[in-house]
Amino acid sequence: MSRYSRIIGWGMYVPERVLTNEELSRMVDTSDEWIRTRTGIRERRIVNGPSETTATLAERAARAALDKAGLPATALDMIIVSTSSPEHLFPATACIVQDALGATRAGAYDLSAACSGFVYALAMAHGLIVSEQADTVMVIGAETLSRLVNWQDRNTCVLFGDGAGAIILQASETPGGVLATVLGSDGSGAHLLSLPAGGSRKPPSFETLRNGDHYIHMDGKAVFRFATRVMAEATREVVEKAGLTLDDIALIIPHQANIRIIETSVVRQLHFPWERVFVNLDRYGNTSTASIPIALTEAVEAGRLQPGDYAVLVGFGAGLTWAAALIQWGPEVPEVTWWQRLWWHVLWYRWSRLRSLYRRVRRRVFAFYFRGREQVEQWRFTSPPSPDGKEKQGEE
Ligand code: ACO
Repeated sequence: MSRYSRIIGWGMYVPERVLTNEELSRMVDTSDEWIRTRTGIRERRIVNGPSETTATLAERAARAALDKAGLPATALDMIIVSTSSPEHLFPATACIVQDALGATRAGAYDLSAACSGFVYALAMAHGLIVSEQADTVMVIGAETLSRLVNWQDRNTCVLFGDGAGAIILQASETPGGVLATVLGSDGSGAHLLSLPAGGSRKPPSFETLRNGDHYIHMDGKAVFRFATRVMAEATREVVEKAGLTLDDIALIIPHQANIRIIETSVVRQLHFPWERVFVNLDRYGNTSTASIPIALTEAVEAGRLQPGDYAVLVGFGAGLTWAAALIQWGPEVPEVTWWQRLWWHVLWYRWSRLRSLYRRVRRRVFAFYFRGREQVEQWRFTSPPSPDGKEKQGEE
């Protein structure tokens, strides 16, 4: 029997703090008019204070998706977080989200493919499901790029915003869900959009700080040219792979980077009607890998996708990377009941925090208690072999 992966939950979260073009024009040499006409962006959301991070945004979006699916966090087999602004190089942000949700049965890992990351993660989740390695997978796109842009560089700081979107994919025997995916990369363009320092190639130093190498660097024009080409090509390819035509597509949800990129690639190159393209970048800016799941959530909530509809999700980003997925929207899902909401939000998520705290404390107590013993073990394993090659007495 064939196995399919269907989207049964979706959700988003954006920080409350709104940063308008007007405010930006008081910070750098730019104007509302320039930003609107060159990008289509009017405002964006940005995290406010240390308590808001990529993981906290991801967790809020994940909770909303679980509510929509009517599932407890313990139903998840895997959590994939796509992000270019993880909490740390390691551990994975996905593990922090897993702990916060109390998803005690789930594996968790991060995926890095910049703005194409969400569609890459969707393809990975689909693969896990159809190969019967998982039944229920959470895919999250989450970013706090406001922490990585140089707020004095007008070429980049006007473009990006923060946010998170999440979906839940589940195994199904009913045809539909993810029907085809196209994933591509071209590392020869890696330098066109990058964060040069902070990794193993250029570890942080006074010099990298002085040069601003810990900020996003971008050749905007080159990225623009690349984006308009690959968005159209990837859309065409994924539609063909699914055995459909562009006329069958009810909605294209493109990566929300720049209105001109969407107009050039989707509308002019593909001759696709503007009414069947979903755009919300005017309110959020480019939220990188979060932009497609945020747009998908808003499109569904606005009734732009109905059961049986075909939609294309298509993105591009640093790497260079590009990715497209063709999905068939599933049947309506029953929403979470009030008592489930009460149980999960008031009790389960709080209990998860307590459980996490308990495990941390227990680990410390164990470490303290066994410290003496571990020192003896360490001595046994690090003591040098005797010159005659014989083991010392007592070392088996
Ligand atoms: N305000 C005012 N003027 C500006 C600003 C600004 N914020 N930014 C640049 N300018 C100036 C430039 O300095 C330039 O001035 P000059 O002619 O005197 O040198 C002029 O405006 C025109 O600049 P261009 O680079 O030609 O502007 P363009 O029309 O190409 O738009 C933009 C720039 C918006 C960055 C565009 O190239 C773009 O959107 N590129 C794609 C970027 C993108 O999508 N990146 C994200 C990829 S996804 C990911 O992986 C994160």
